[in-house]
Amino acid sequence: MCGIVGYIGKKQAAPIILDGLARLEYRGYDSAGMAIFDGERINIKKSVGRLKILENLTHDGKMMPGLLGIGHTRWATHGAPNNENSHPHFNEDETIAVVHNGIIENYLALRKKMTDKGYHFRSETDTEVLAHLLDYYYKGNPLEAITKVLHRVSGSYALGIMFADHPDEIFAVRKDSPLIVGQNEDGCFIASDVPAILKYTRTVTYVENQEIVRLREDHMHFYTVDEEEIAKTPVTIDWDANAAEKGGYEHFMLKEMYEQPKTVSDTISPRLKGNEIVIEELNMSDDEIRAIKKIHIVACGSAYHTGVTAKYVMEGLARIPVEVDVASEFRYRNPILEEGALVIVISQSGETADSLAALRESKARGFKVLGIVNVVGSSIAREADNVMYTWAGPEIAVATTKAYSAQLVALYLLAIKFAQVKETIDEIEFDGMLEDLKRLPDQIELLLNNKQRIQRFANRYIGAKDVFFIGRGIDYAISLEGSLKLKEISYIHSEAYAAGELKHGTISLIEEGTLVAAVSTQPALYQKTISNMVEVKARGAFVLAVTCEGNKEIEKAADYVIYIPETNAYFANSLAIIPLQLFGYYVAVGKGCDVDKPRNLAKSVTVE
Ligand code: F6R
Repeated sequence: MCGIVGYIGKKQAAPIILDGLARLEYRGYDSAGMAIFDGERINIKKSVGRLKILENLTHDGKMMPGLLGIGHTRWATHGAPNNENSHPHFNEDETIAVVHNGIIENYLALRKKMTDKGYHFRSETDTEVLAHLLDYYYKGNPLEAITKVLHRVSGSYALGIMFADHPDEIFAVRKDSPLIVGQNEDGCFIASDVPAILKYTRTVTYVENQEIVRLREDHMHFYTVDEEEIAKTPVTIDWDANAAEKGGYEHFMLKEMYEQPKTVSDTISPRLKGNEIVIEELNMSDDEIRAIKKIHIVACGSAYHTGVTAKYVMEGLARIPVEVDVASEFRYRNPILEEGALVIVISQSGETADSLAALRESKARGFKVLGIVNVVGSSIAREADNVMYTWAGPEIAVATTKAYSAQLVALYLLAIKFAQVKETIDEIEFDGMLEDLKRLPDQIELLLNNKQRIQRFANRYIGAKDVFFIGRGIDYAISLEGSLKLKEISYIHSEAYAAGELKHGTISLIEEGTLVAAVSTQPALYQKTISNMVEVKARGAFVLAVTCEGNKEIEKAADYVIYIPETNAYFANSLAIIPLQLFGYYVAVGKGCDVDKPRNLAKSVTVE
């Protein structure tokens, strides 16, 4: 969601900025722009649509010479995606340029104030007030102007700012929107996310809330909003830069699906020590685990779906009541958190605004928060009391696959650990579960290698209007994710239902040929789900079943069956989701959709 890249140094800025913005494309955007200082003045070029258009407009940046600049990909919030609303935004005499990620909540009041002072607005954005406010407070000292502005705005922001009469520096500022800065021997960089600058440097510094950075060609200085200089320690990024490249796959999504055996194994292995589960990051003694009375899981989207699965697994194995909330609901519903509650916030990006707000709400009430996070150093990782990382590496496709799979196994590990400590499972069950966990990566690989069969099936549904996913218990949680995968990337309307709920209204939508994907991985519920399949089949549905090897009886009720290998019923999600991810992917590819960057979506949802 909005990407920022800035550069000051010995090299031409525009190509570096365009390259960085291209690496942030996965975040989602609908227009792009950049401001470059050419030695005399700041020039801005903008375009609506894909970054390619801006690249063509500027001849890959060659038409915009200069050694410092800021660039932006915009995901529209205030005002349509058009040139006027695209960033960067200028003050009136075009001597100050600003790019912004986030939302200025009091922008209407500020806009009125600045209009009353005679300022003219060219766009409908909240960002433009920042450019005019900076102009208003600027008396030759950029840092002073920036701090004055920050004292007057509320909301969230990551900013890149440049002043024409300070051509030896650019500025970065952040509050509640991600921002990092980096340095190499040639210059300094600003970026919303590490992949944007990984090609140039591995030495990055995470900008904290309400910190200001002054970047020059050869050094960076950090300040508080009161202009006091502060010392910061850079970190070295140790990911493989190739992890953020497509590596021969047609799409990042396909590559990331294929990485699932590894990410699942990387998330499990470090926590298995001999025949023990050791989750050091949990920082909880056995007595503290036994004292947990309730678990609140809070997350958004697919991460929420892993939480729905975890409810069944945790309650089933450890007998701890679990409440799962969509983060945007949790934060405003005045949730009842009582003594003995553990809050778990799940997030791939670690930057999702609602999940972060839920974390803060829980902490403010005095409850400990465990973050299950993928992006190291992200806001949720930094603010949670304890962090259990999912070692999925950078996930670039907007639709999550490998991070989802890693979240699932992190949650299984927690559930088994809690169950063992609480003695709600015996040793034989515990050992059996560890064996099943260890087998998951190979089983996932096997399913991925059988992709042709799903591809052929998917090709038949490119023209589908509606698809329904049904399941009971954990299979319902799998259905939620299967349905989301399909709809978000193929734009085919799809819904997931608890299988027993269908006949309470939705079954009236089933017509001749409607595809119903029935997930049935829980042996105890096989018969019940078969009954629901028969109900929809009787009304004309074509039934695709995803079930476990050996459940031959399902063939009587299904038109097409995909079998998953045998595993513990609690872990079936990790296997059943693979054919459903592949199904969504191949339908979207067949329809010619932009699989990695579906319309209207952003990878990192940093606004409410
Ligand atoms: C769907 C998807 C989203 C995210 C959601 C939460 O494929 O990726 O639903 O799961 O936006 O994002 P994170 O996990 O970054 O908090």
